[in-house]
Amino acid sequence: MKRITLIKGDGIGPEISDAVLKIINASGLSIDWDIQTAGADVIEKEHTPLPDRVIKSVMANGIALKSPVTTPIGKGFRSVNVQLRKELDLYANLRPCYNLPGIKTRYEGVDIVVVRENTEDLYAGIENQIDEDTAESIKRITRPASTRIAEFAFDYALKNNRKEVCVVTKANICKLSDGLFLNCAREVSQKFPQIKFREILVDNCCMQLVQNPNQFDVLLLPNLYGDIVSDLCAGLIGGLGIAQGANIGKDYAVFEPVHGSAPDIAGLDKANPTAMLMSAIEMLNYIGENNTALKIKTALFDTLRNGIKTADIGGDYSCSQFTDEIIKRLRCII
Ligand code: NAI
Repeated sequence: MKRITLIKGDGIGPEISDAVLKIINASGLSIDWDIQTAGADVIEKEHTPLPDRVIKSVMANGIALKSPVTTPIGKGFRSVNVQLRKELDLYANLRPCYNLPGIKTRYEGVDIVVVRENTEDLYAGIENQIDEDTAESIKRITRPASTRIAEFAFDYALKNNRKEVCVVTKANICKLSDGLFLNCAREVSQKFPQIKFREILVDNCCMQLVQNPNQFDVLLLPNLYGDIVSDLCAGLIGGLGIAQGANIGKDYAVFEPVHGSAPDIAGLDKANPTAMLMSAIEMLNYIGENNTALKIKTALFDTLRNGIKTADIGGDYSCSQFTDEIIKRLRCII
C-alpha cells in the first residue's frame, strides 16, 4: 500500500483535508496516510512550526498532500511553506489553471499553466533592518535555479503538448536579477525549437491576462511574480477555492492548493475543498493511480455541472454537503 504524507495545516486546512480523505477513501483506493502536523499549533510543544519529523516523513514517502499553513504577517516565524520548499528543494511550483464545468466566469476556454520558480528571489526572506526607518529585502536570482526552472517549463510544455512558453519578468528595471532569469530562459528556449518562446513584462502580462487570457499557454516566472500572477489566474477561473498546485523537485513532490488558510471562514464548514481535491487528483496521476484520479475528477465535475457549489463560487452548499454529493456520484461510477 502506498504511504503518503498528509499535512493537514491550519485554518480551513483540516476541513478540506478531511473532505479529500473521505472522497479518496470512497474511491476504494487504499492509501497509508502518514499524518503530520505543522504550523503555529505545534510551536508550543516542539519549539518550531516545521519539526524535522515533517521533513523526514516527506523524504521517506517521497510524496505529500498538504493543506495550507498560516504565516504571521509582518512578524513572527518564517513561512512553513517556504521552508518546506527550500528544505526539500521543491524547485518547481506548477499551477495549472483552467475553467471547470458549472462555474461561470468572464472568460471561457482559459487554459494556462503557471510555472513558478520556488526556491529564491524575494521569497528567500533575506532581509535587513538598516536602521529604525530603513529596511531592505534582497532579491537574489541565480543561473542554476533559473536554468533548471526554465528547463522544467519547456520540458513540461513538450510532454504536455503545449505550444508556447512565455517568460514573465521586469527585466527593464531589475536588469541584473530579472535580466539573468530572462537570459537563462532565452538560452534554454534554444534547445526546444518545437515550443514557441515569448517574453513579456509582468505589468503588461497582468493587463493582458485580465483582458485576453486565452492568448497565454505556459507562463514561466520568478518566485514573487509567480505567486501574484497565479492568484490572478485563479481569479480568472472562479477564485482560489478551485485553484490547484504542486511543488515538484528532483526527489520529492508536495501537492497543495494555491490558496491559504482562509482564517475568515475557518471552522464554519464553508470552505471549498475543490482546490485541495484537484491537487490530490494530480497527485494520484503523479503516482500512477490514473484510473482513480479520473473517477474522482468525473464525480467532481458532475457535481459542479449540476449546480452543486460552495458559497465562494456562487452556491449554497457547505463543505461537508458538497463532499457528500461528490461521494454520492463517485459511488455510481465505481
Ligand atoms: P487565503 O488564500 O487564505 O484567502 C483569501 C480569500 O480567499 C479569503 O477571503 C478566503 O476566505 C478565500 N478562500 C481561500 N481559499 C478558499 C477555499 N478553499 N474556499 C473558500 N474560500 C476560500 O489568503 P490570505 O487571507 O491572504 O492568507 C491567509 C493565510 O494563509 C496567511 O497566513 C498566509 O500566509 C497563508 N497562506 C498559506 C499558503 C500555503 O500554505 N501554501 C498559501 C497562501 C497563503
